[in-house]
Amino acid sequence: MRDVLKTIVASARDLLDAEYAALGVPDDHGGFAQFVVDGVSDEQWKAIGPLPRQHGILAAMLHDKQAERLPDVRKDPRFGGWPATHPDMSDFLGVPIRDGDDTLGTLFLANKRCPKPEGGCGFTEDDAELLGILAQHAAIALTNARLYERSRELTITEERTRLAHELHDAVSQKLFSLRLTAQAAAALVDRDPARAKGELQQVAALAAEAADELRAAVVELRPAALEEDGLINTLRTQIQVLDRAHSAEVTFENCGVRALPPAQEEALLRVAQEALHNALRHSEAEHVSVVLIRRGQGAALRVVDDGRGFEPRAVRRAGRHLGLVSMRHRASGVGGRLIVKSAPGEGATIEMEVPGG
Ligand SMILES: Nc1ncnc2c1ncn2[C@@H]1O[C@H](COP(=O)(O)OP(=O)(O)OP(=O)(O)O)[C@@H](O)[C@H]1O
Ligand SMILES: [Mg+2]
Repeated sequence: MRDVLKTIVASARDLLDAEYAALGVPDDHGGFAQFVVDGVSDEQWKAIGPLPRQHGILAAMLHDKQAERLPDVRKDPRFGGWPATHPDMSDFLGVPIRDGDDTLGTLFLANKRCPKPEGGCGFTEDDAELLGILAQHAAIALTNARLYERSRELTITEERTRLAHELHDAVSQKLFSLRLTAQAAAALVDRDPARAKGELQQVAALAAEAADELRAAVVELRPAALEEDGLINTLRTQIQVLDRAHSAEVTFENCGVRALPPAQEEALLRVAQEALHNALRHSEAEHVSVVLIRRGQGAALRVVDDGRGFEPRAVRRAGRHLGLVSMRHRASGVGGRLIVKSAPGEGATIEMEVPGG
């Protein structure tokens, strides 16, 4: 964008035969985000010192809706002086750079080179019109640059959300199991060193898995287990581990589901993991069951616990938890849907349907 602005400023100076030309784009802190000049040598530019602030004529120009033609800028009541090293300027032409009602900046010229009328401004009405056209080009360049920046910000936000969900789903559960296993090891270490050793090996294995998941989340890979074993076997193994690690009884049953498209398998696995994780962490259930059911081409997943239950709508309003949000997001991401059924004292059922392929 800066190159475009430079070209505009240089063309303005050239076409309108001015000694100096400049373009300023204000920032929100009383200064200029961009200040492009033409007709000033590098040495002169350095000698002038810091960039101007939004004051005097420059500030006035940023509020103007029309071109401003002055026979002598130094005699204008708004003139606030300039640094000693600033080139001397008299006749002046400035136009606002506008996008609708917004002023994006200002484009201005000083010192028309041709002989000028006594006491009048060297720049003519025609000059003002021409400069106005150049200002429109500058407006387009600035607006495009803003749009580009905005779309980049949006992409970054989306990427951040994706990563937050991924990390939440993949890593926080592993860390939760890791913590439990470490606690078990600590409890066993005096009584039964051999079993404590086994638990500690489990800690190491879980930590390695967490590191793998973390890497996969960052580079957007599918969970390694799914890649190798498919959804059914992965779920079965993970549920056996959870059954052993927790006091609740955790069961798995598959009713006729075969392989599904990879994205749907991944979404089902993530939702099952989070639903299990929630049941084991929040519900104090005695039984947690996971069932996969064939539905035409697609499948349904149901995770049911007989724990204390909760009020789904209240949780939704509270809004600071990632688990339920992430599950919904995963389901809709593969064209499926999520149903949460729960009430205090009545356990909880999380159901997800996917269309299959
Ligand atoms: N199976 C369940 N039984 C009882 N309460 C539950 C159950 N599932 C969720 N909850 C309640 O809903 C809340 C929101 O769950 P959610 O998974 O969105 O967030 P979280 O588990 O608290 O935190 P995280 O963002 O780490 O998942 C939980 O804090 C808990 O109070
Ligand atoms: Mg959760």
